[in-house]
Amino acid sequence: MLLEIVGITKTFGGIRALDGVSFSVEKGAIHGLIGPNGAGKTTLINVLSGTAKPMEGRILLEGALIHSLPPYKVAALGIARTFQNIRLFAGMNCVENVIAGQHLKAKRQLLPRLLHLPSANREEREYRDKAMACLKRVGIEHRAAIPAGYLSYGERRRLEIARALALEPRILLLDEPVAGMRRRGIEQVGGLIRSLATQGMTILLIEHNMKFVMELCSRITVLNFGRVITTGAPSEVGRHPQVIEAYLGAEA
Ligand SMILES: Nc1ncnc2c1ncn2[C@@H]1O[C@H](COP(=O)(O)OP(=O)(O)O)[C@@H](O)[C@H]1O
Ligand SMILES: [Mg+2]
Repeated sequence: MLLEIVGITKTFGGIRALDGVSFSVEKGAIHGLIGPNGAGKTTLINVLSGTAKPMEGRILLEGALIHSLPPYKVAALGIARTFQNIRLFAGMNCVENVIAGQHLKAKRQLLPRLLHLPSANREEREYRDKAMACLKRVGIEHRAAIPAGYLSYGERRRLEIARALALEPRILLLDEPVAGMRRRGIEQVGGLIRSLATQGMTILLIEHNMKFVMELCSRITVLNFGRVITTGAPSEVGRHPQVIEAYLGAEA
């Protein structure tokens, strides 16, 4: 197992957003994380990436405890994420957005430093080359010099993934990467996720689109009201009575 989540509890005031959540993500897998709105999916990603601290429980990345580390250390150890609500710098071009992602890991303020250095600087060139390679991996290298604000919605989703890839993660946490997309865009991002997994990347995928999750994932964990209903293969999860109830209501 690459990632082990053990008894994670996170409360906000009286709300138990996560209530003893445990499951593991196998190395190289595309692991789905589904559940109704408010189930705790994003909160779990926040905990995994170090931006939210759990009240109870442990998180292990290849056996090392990481749940008490600050976000930049978690990123440096190989956990990268995208955001449910896209977070890009609209006025900066695509390469710069990806470079900005790399500063997370550097701890020091990389970006201001880079923007003030002469353009011929070797270090800057290295970061740019790496950023270009990430744009290429997600298929938007031809948009490198375009401000993020001018990209289509689907391209912005891809740019978010490129920025996460710039951290050279061991595991990629994707928070609803095809939300609001049309079928063609969904298929393209699906293909991208599959190709990343083929290259050895481990992926934890949050998504509402059941067909998308069922087709892509080898295992799926279902959350509801902060608790894990079940973890299993898509076929098992799809016919689990509590899962059907959570999605379709009791009458179903
Ligand atoms: N920062 C926060 N402050 C207070 N409540 C929060 C906060 N973040 C999440 N919650 C609550 O925790 C629960 C889980 O939210 P979230 O993790 O966003 O669910 P999901 O991503 O599955 O839709 C919800 O009831 C939500 O209102
Ligand atoms: Mg969410």
